[in-house]
Amino acid sequence: MSDQPRTAGSAASRRDFLKTGTAAVLGGALAAQQNVSFGAFAGGSDVLKIGLVGCGGRGGGAAVNALEADPNVKLIGLADLFPDRLESCVKNLEASQYKDRVDLPKDRQFTGWDAYKKLLETDIDIVILATPITFRPEHIKAAIAAGKHVFAEKPVAVDAPGVHSVMATCVEAAKKNLAVVSGLCWRYDHGMRATFQQVHEGGVGDIVAIQATYNTGTLKQFPRKPEWSDMEWQLRNWQHFTWTSGDFNVEQHIHSLDKVAWAMKDETPIRATGTGGRQARQGAESGHVYDHFNVVYEYANGVKAFANCRQMDGCSNDVSDFVFGTKGTCDVFKHRIKGEKDWKFTGSKGQMYVTEHIEMIQSIRNGKPINNGNYMCKSTMMAIMGRMSAYTGQTLTWEQAFNSKENLTPVSLEFGPLAMPPVAVPGVTAFV
Ligand SMILES: NC(=O)c1ccc[n+]([C@@H]2O[C@H](COP(=O)([O-])OP(=O)(O)OC[C@H]3O[C@@H](n4cnc5c(N)ncnc54)[C@H](O)[C@@H]3O)[C@@H](O)[C@H]2O)c1
Repeated sequence: MSDQPRTAGSAASRRDFLKTGTAAVLGGALAAQQNVSFGAFAGGSDVLKIGLVGCGGRGGGAAVNALEADPNVKLIGLADLFPDRLESCVKNLEASQYKDRVDLPKDRQFTGWDAYKKLLETDIDIVILATPITFRPEHIKAAIAAGKHVFAEKPVAVDAPGVHSVMATCVEAAKKNLAVVSGLCWRYDHGMRATFQQVHEGGVGDIVAIQATYNTGTLKQFPRKPEWSDMEWQLRNWQHFTWTSGDFNVEQHIHSLDKVAWAMKDETPIRATGTGGRQARQGAESGHVYDHFNVVYEYANGVKAFANCRQMDGCSNDVSDFVFGTKGTCDVFKHRIKGEKDWKFTGSKGQMYVTEHIEMIQSIRNGKPINNGNYMCKSTMMAIMGRMSAYTGQTLTWEQAFNSKENLTPVSLEFGPLAMPPVAVPGVTAFV
């Protein structure tokens, strides 16, 4: 990890974001990219070598998905902060059905804070990034600087300076003809794609409102061991801390917020008003994150998106999204529209976790690597905006949120003492 704290970059307004921000800059860079000569894999059959940073549940899963996606892919290197996490990942991968394409000698298994740097020095072509979220901006930046294609698990930052950093890196990736594929997996589900195509083609008429709900049980905890420092405890329980996860409005609810953004053709909201708190999560063992959020996002054309999420045991669960329009209602997860003209998706959904790798690998082989920078940065920012509004109790404009200077990365990344910030109190916690 870089010793340098991230900076927010120059102030930018919502108009800047749309006109000169990621969308426009990425658009320009991607257009220029069409003229760049094809990369080393235009032949379509060369072996692509993959490395993984963050060997936990999703990282291990994504590595298998990549192996499943293409027979000419090999997994040749791993990096993780903790040796035990890396070792169990190696064991699982070497026992998987793809073990013949898993080649992980000890000298390509890296651990510690600099593990990702060592992996990036090997001759991997693609790196999968699946650590806790706070590290993503630095890891994406280092990967693109090293000339690697990137698969970046969602979300891509926990604060606005992190989003700025990833935006800049995605522009750089486009210039270098490198892929940046986002783990916002629903964008790679064929049923979801058909559903949003219907919405965009007027299937519900003009959108009036959107509901996005993600209510689940509580988070798994890893009880503190006496030998763990504060830093180790927080990283082993990273979903319970805002600096590592962004809180669950960012870490988990981003899947729903990204669908809101998709329905709105990735236009950014002008304003958000959030409430939230922590009622059922009790005690220091569960960190300081909230257990419920309710955020209303407002758009320039008057559309409101009502986004709520909860992580509590013993309550009714519901993960659903609805788009309400002047001519009908879309049940997003059921891929169904009811209204003036009923519609239902009946095709094959595919396997989104594999499809994202299939399409990434094909795009690299075609010499036109996918760059998901635009929506992955905007949806991440939207989720951060909702958290900041709920934590502070303030209605925030996009400009305010996007120009926030709050940088959640600790000054020093090393094992040792690390105070846990207090639970945010609306009306008291300051917006920075
Ligand atoms: N797309 C999806 O549906 C989906 C599902 C689950 C998780 N995720 C995302 O995947 C990411 C990882 O989640 P997970 O559930 O696998 O978590 P996890 O805790 O199981 O794995 C994280 C791994 O990263 C390692 N790590 C921590 N700090 C590191 C560092 N500085 N350098 C290298 N390794 C480090 C940990 O030791 C651990 O092995 C998160 O961003 C999460 O939001 C996405």
